[in-house]
Amino acid sequence: MKINKLIWVRLITFSFFLTTACYACSDDSDTPLDTPTEEPGNGMDDIDTSGVTLKEAIGDKFLFGAAINPWQLDINSSKEENRREGEVVLKHFNALVAESVMKWRSIHPDKEKYTFEDADAIVKFAEENGMTVIGHTLVWHTALPDWVWKDVSTGKDLSAEQLKENMRSHINTVVSRYKGRIKGWDVVNEAFNDDGTYRESPFYRILGKEYIPLAYQYAHEADPDAELYYNDFELYHSTKCRAVLQLIGELKAKGLPITAIGMQGHMWMNNPTVEMYENTILAFKSAGVKVMVTEWDMSVANGQNIYPNGLPKDVEAKWTQRMIDFFKLFLKYKDVVTRVSTWGVSDSHSWLNEKCTDYPLLFDRQQQPKPVVEMMIRAALADK
Ligand code: G3I
Repeated sequence: MKINKLIWVRLITFSFFLTTACYACSDDSDTPLDTPTEEPGNGMDDIDTSGVTLKEAIGDKFLFGAAINPWQLDINSSKEENRREGEVVLKHFNALVAESVMKWRSIHPDKEKYTFEDADAIVKFAEENGMTVIGHTLVWHTALPDWVWKDVSTGKDLSAEQLKENMRSHINTVVSRYKGRIKGWDVVNEAFNDDGTYRESPFYRILGKEYIPLAYQYAHEADPDAELYYNDFELYHSTKCRAVLQLIGELKAKGLPITAIGMQGHMWMNNPTVEMYENTILAFKSAGVKVMVTEWDMSVANGQNIYPNGLPKDVEAKWTQRMIDFFKLFLKYKDVVTRVSTWGVSDSHSWLNEKCTDYPLLFDRQQQPKPVVEMMIRAALADK
């Protein structure tokens, strides 16, 4: 009787919150927008930024992080590039997320084998330097070894029970190892298509949508104090945003904690607009969760090798302007944005360089700050 009553209360609360939150979803032209407030950072010219780092300027407004690989923390390396990357990380950032080494394929390549060395090194470095660590990621369709979902001898899908057991044991082992040391986890990553349908991952194919709450349940059991996030890209598509809002409601209705949505910030020169991103922040804010700007970078080349030898001045200026506009947006929503993390440190190492020469990050190929860094410091100092 008591349980039924609880379920009803949760259902009613969920319906109310979904109606309210969807009202703010992004790219529907007929969706009313919240009125933008005064931009922070006006009258910033007389602010002295000398010697101030990004993390100092941002202070406790939100964490400022970077995705890294262990070589980028090697401040005593004989390789100059590695050393300089490490110096930038130490100087400007206070939160770390592993670009690859905590993914399933890296940390748990075979059923009986865990490889914790790289992840351990990142956590140790962070602890020695007073930095926060975010775990990325527990359940994702990429960087996933076949044995997790397939019987490798027959090539057939595992049963639902076998997959659940693999998920439970992986999540339990990894999350427990870093209990109290990793602040929060991207529990499930990129579960939805742009149209809001569930991605046809092996997890979804075998377990249906219940694989998601199960992942949160296992993570919560392993570390009840860890923050749990859902992380995805291009959430400004209203269909995708609605699917995530629905998921937040379903998790809450089951009593599972969902602390924040990681709004991946992979951007291009024309997309998204600041308004699209703002509306999405507002949608999640009204759903009662925090927002993390994860995986922030802005591609200039968009997969084409059009700028192999450097950027034309006008393109660079447009990139700078868009980056500072977005950063001011993040400052504006510091009440709900708890972390901003770039996906990499300098242009010399970015996933976007796999196809062409790109210029997506705050530091150039010599690890020198781009002009936007000083503008960000100024904007953060001016923002009260
Ligand atoms: O570590 C192996 C190495 O042993 C092997 O010799 C080499 C040969 O290709 O590959 C290395 O693995 C690479 C791995 O990065 C580590 O560097 C993979 O090939 C490569 O595909 C992998 O790419 C990463 C990708 O996720 C897949 O895990 C990118 O660096 C990383 O930036 C990217 O990050 C994702 C986020 O996790 C989720 N959101 C999108 C984002 C961009 O795709």
